[in-house]
Amino acid sequence: MSRHYDVEAVRREFPVVERMLYLDSAHQTPLAASVRDALLRFYSEGHDFAGPKPVWLARVDEVRRRVARLLNCAPSQIAFTKNTSEGMNIAANALPLEAGDNVLLVEGDHPNNAYAFLNLTRRGVEVRFVPLRGETADASTFADAIDGRTRAISLSHVTFHAGHRFDVEAIGRLCRERGLFFVVDAMQSTGVVPLDAAAIGATFLGSGCHKGLLVPQGLGILLCREDVRELNPAYMAMSSLASPPADYIARADNMALRADAGRFEIGNFNLPDIHALAASLDLIEGIGVASIEAHAYDLGDRLIGHCDEMGVRLVGPRDRAQRAPHIYVLDLPGEGWIDYLASENVRISPERDGIRVSFGLFNSESDVDRFAAIVKRRLGAV
Ligand SMILES: Cc1ncc(COP(=O)(O)O)c(C=O)c1O
Repeated sequence: MSRHYDVEAVRREFPVVERMLYLDSAHQTPLAASVRDALLRFYSEGHDFAGPKPVWLARVDEVRRRVARLLNCAPSQIAFTKNTSEGMNIAANALPLEAGDNVLLVEGDHPNNAYAFLNLTRRGVEVRFVPLRGETADASTFADAIDGRTRAISLSHVTFHAGHRFDVEAIGRLCRERGLFFVVDAMQSTGVVPLDAAAIGATFLGSGCHKGLLVPQGLGILLCREDVRELNPAYMAMSSLASPPADYIARADNMALRADAGRFEIGNFNLPDIHALAASLDLIEGIGVASIEAHAYDLGDRLIGHCDEMGVRLVGPRDRAQRAPHIYVLDLPGEGWIDYLASENVRISPERDGIRVSFGLFNSESDVDRFAAIVKRRLGAV
């Protein structure tokens, strides 16, 4: 049951969740029947008609419009990428940073965000890791670390390792006040937490699509602010150009870049995944991200209630204002939990400080109760 939408109907899209207790959507989500069908339709078009490429490309633009609507930005601000890491690397290399400049990151944040910036240390850019104070990151986390050479802040919106939900609106305001670039890794929030790009005001915001956006690995989205003109792509292809040569002959005097986010796109698209994304957006829009979030918070409250009753500590924040709706790391006592949960047909991920339970739009209250009962059975024995 859910107060927010018909979870039973959603579960019929994901039959695998009746065969196992799937609590690992922060790792990847199972494929919905409608998303699989969209992939099969795409492959059939290629197989039967040798690919109606202009039709496919028109659909790319339609999906771009829908992604923009999801993030509350203009379609011209959206580039398709391969994954979050590519988006973070495009961002890090597009910023006009010089030797001696510094970038602030959060200690312990996702390595794929950190490495994109650590790679810049080869050209003399300094990376400073700022510790969290308490359970969140907001403007005060960074205020003292900013000096005259600070040029950018980059962090995850939601952390994969403990389910923090950082105050990206406040950090975005700080960046605008202090003239800093702002880069957000939204991998764990897209499709689960409503995102308002206009309110966040990030220079770049990137995400892969294989978690909350429900498509197979290999597609990412990258939002780029259009009013920041000094952002240049590290790579160039015909698709990056304002006027690609009609005769397909490259010339050095024809390298003016597109003004929109398309200047960061390289060559052909991941067309199968973009077709899959059209179907997953049907599913997500049909429910509404706000309802997906509200349902996940309810499941989280229920899980925290079980943990309190069992005396199990939650590693990340408890407070709804500071925690993500769908990611909970449990500090279970003793060893052997991974093997035990696998033997009980429960899918979770091991995390730094415990085991991570993460919800998808198909999880139900009874999933949470079943999980708690499975944990309880072993707690007495360890
Ligand atoms: C916050 C965050 N960033 C990035 C990634 C992964 O990056 P990519 O999409 O490049 O695989 C993950 C999880 O896999 C993540 O949780």
